[in-house]
Amino acid sequence: EWTPEAFVDMTVNELRDKIGSDKVVLGLSGGVDSTVAAVLLHKAIGKNLYCIFVNNGLLRKDEFSNVLNQYKGMGLNVKGVDSSKRFLDALAGISDPEEKRKKIGNTFIDVFDDEAHEITDVTYLAQGTIYPDVIESISVNGPSATIKSHHNVGGLPDFMKLKIVEPLRMLFKDEVRRVGGEMGIDPELLGRHPFPGPGLAIRILGDITAEKVRILQEVDHIFIQGLKDWNLYDKVWQAGAILLPINSVGVMGDERTYEKVVALRAVESTDGMTADWVNLPYDFLQKISNTIINRVKGVNRVVYDISSKPPATIEWE
Ligand code: XMP
Repeated sequence: EWTPEAFVDMTVNELRDKIGSDKVVLGLSGGVDSTVAAVLLHKAIGKNLYCIFVNNGLLRKDEFSNVLNQYKGMGLNVKGVDSSKRFLDALAGISDPEEKRKKIGNTFIDVFDDEAHEITDVTYLAQGTIYPDVIESISVNGPSATIKSHHNVGGLPDFMKLKIVEPLRMLFKDEVRRVGGEMGIDPELLGRHPFPGPGLAIRILGDITAEKVRILQEVDHIFIQGLKDWNLYDKVWQAGAILLPINSVGVMGDERTYEKVVALRAVESTDGMTADWVNLPYDFLQKISNTIINRVKGVNRVVYDISSKPPATIEWE
């Protein structure tokens, strides 16, 4: 029978045998998979694991500093790299969703490659790949084609030529969470909703500016904190806010306003492949909508997305 305890013991031993005194680099995202992979490797090889956590400027409000501090508190050897400006510059003027993803993917690869070069004599690249990723990648692209297709200028960056270690590649998501729990990772971190790699970029419809990111971070923060305060967070599989590229008319006192609309989305799902919108209490929606409109300058209307997947995807882009 599979137990997280036995998995941790076995995997830590295997990683030690395989890696010896070589160095490993790993990109942390703040998500469950990369964090659990890092903690397993840290248990096995300690300071020879070099973690890199990149701020792409598209994370949730205060997420970069909060998560970075959490990682440091866990004893991980982690370097936080704030590349917000580099990402926002790369995204300037771009509205097409796939174009956004490509820019973000390529910028990440460039930043990560620069950082990986700072570590002398690194041998391995560790990844938090889990079993469903393995299956998807093989069936859609053939092994490891996905990441390579992102970077088709000037050949492969050096870090992609490193030997790969993927300690979670036989696990499903719930097993990854149990392994994380076994190693003492904060349950709050393990219970975090999924968050897309391109972050808020694909929740800002149209082009991206620092001001739009700031507005969406405030809205998202009120929504997510509200879900937590109302004990709804754990009943929802994923939630977030979308900044729409339209203005609507409103009134404030005697003044007519013409400001942004945000949509809130909360879904139930098991794997993201299909999803239903969540029947959040009206009292909750009323409170959150008022708070957003009162507190976030530039927003005068809130709508709730009541579309299921299929046909509507979870993200709007
Ligand atoms: P959709 O919108 O396709 O989303 O219903 C399904 C799940 O995938 C996430 N998602 C992404 N994750 N990069 C990611 O890492 C992406 O480009 C991306 N697009 C969607 C989405 O948040 C949901 O959990």
